[in-house]
Amino acid sequence: MDSPPSPILSVEHVGVRFGGLVAIADLHFDVQPGEIVSLIGPNGAGKTTAFNVMTGFLRPSQGVVRFRGTALAGLQPHEIVRLGLSRTFQRTSVFPDDSVLDNVLIGLHRRTPARLLDTLLGRDRASERRLRAEARDLLDRVGLTARADEKAGALAYGEQRLVGVALALATEPAMLLLDEPVSGMNASETRVFVGLIRAIRERGVTILLVEHDMPMVMAVSDRIAVLNYGRLIAQGPPEAIRSDPAVIEAYLGQGSAAREAAMRAAQASPAQTSPAPVSAALEASHA
Ligand SMILES: Nc1ncnc2c1ncn2[C@@H]1O[C@H](COP(=O)(O)OP(=O)(O)OP(=O)(O)O)[C@@H](O)[C@H]1O
Ligand SMILES: [Mg+2]
Repeated sequence: MDSPPSPILSVEHVGVRFGGLVAIADLHFDVQPGEIVSLIGPNGAGKTTAFNVMTGFLRPSQGVVRFRGTALAGLQPHEIVRLGLSRTFQRTSVFPDDSVLDNVLIGLHRRTPARLLDTLLGRDRASERRLRAEARDLLDRVGLTARADEKAGALAYGEQRLVGVALALATEPAMLLLDEPVSGMNASETRVFVGLIRAIRERGVTILLVEHDMPMVMAVSDRIAVLNYGRLIAQGPPEAIRSDPAVIEAYLGQGSAAREAAMRAAQASPAQTSPAPVSAALEASHA
């Protein structure tokens, strides 16, 4: 008999309070190796807070996160990265006056700070050459090779986010957490990014995605977990989530005309062919 697969990430009854505000209440879900899972929910639902707990930037008020069986409680962010769990940030920052390639090099040097002095003193040309090759390879993986020598500040905001993805990939993660990676990207950039996410997964990296772009989330996710006011209100495959009344409710609030229309759309058509009422809801709420 097959034993059940063990999750790569388990979030076990995690709660986070900021003073009197409950940012996350009893969040409980697993991610299996090789999955692409999305964590969605309205603004302020607690998604970034959940990422901050998973990556050691925030201690939960209750509960535990396990990564590959190891409880992460008390570990520093860099220790969690070393276990194979990396993230990108909701707000990406690049050094605008440095080239795209140099931005990646700066990130790679940060990973190995001792080498920087050696390099500055010209002691370590071989390792500098290795780092440059690695940086070019990373830019190739995220599709920025043609922009390598431009100033990072000249890139479109969406492209600047790819620099953050390159830096996260530099840590050779087993799992990657992406916080709103396509915000600021246009439709064609988003399509390219979906291809990139799939390519990363093909290389064996598990992905947890926070994103407001519902068509993108529906297209790329194996499973979706939905947070509202810090509570998990639904989880399942995209076709179940897109017509889940609790999810539509969360995005639109009770009694709105848009909610009524979305509910009608959810009921009228089978899930596979439905016009994605949750997408319509989200587009309305983020318009
Ligand atoms: N450091 C903090 N101190 C106090 N309150 C915080 C802190 N960080 C987040 N919050 C609050 O916790 C709640 C959840 O915020 P969080 O940033 O996790 O939401 P989110 O789901 O990522 O939203 P968005 O989609 O807008 O990025 C919000 O009410 C937010 O104001
Ligand atoms: Mg957020």
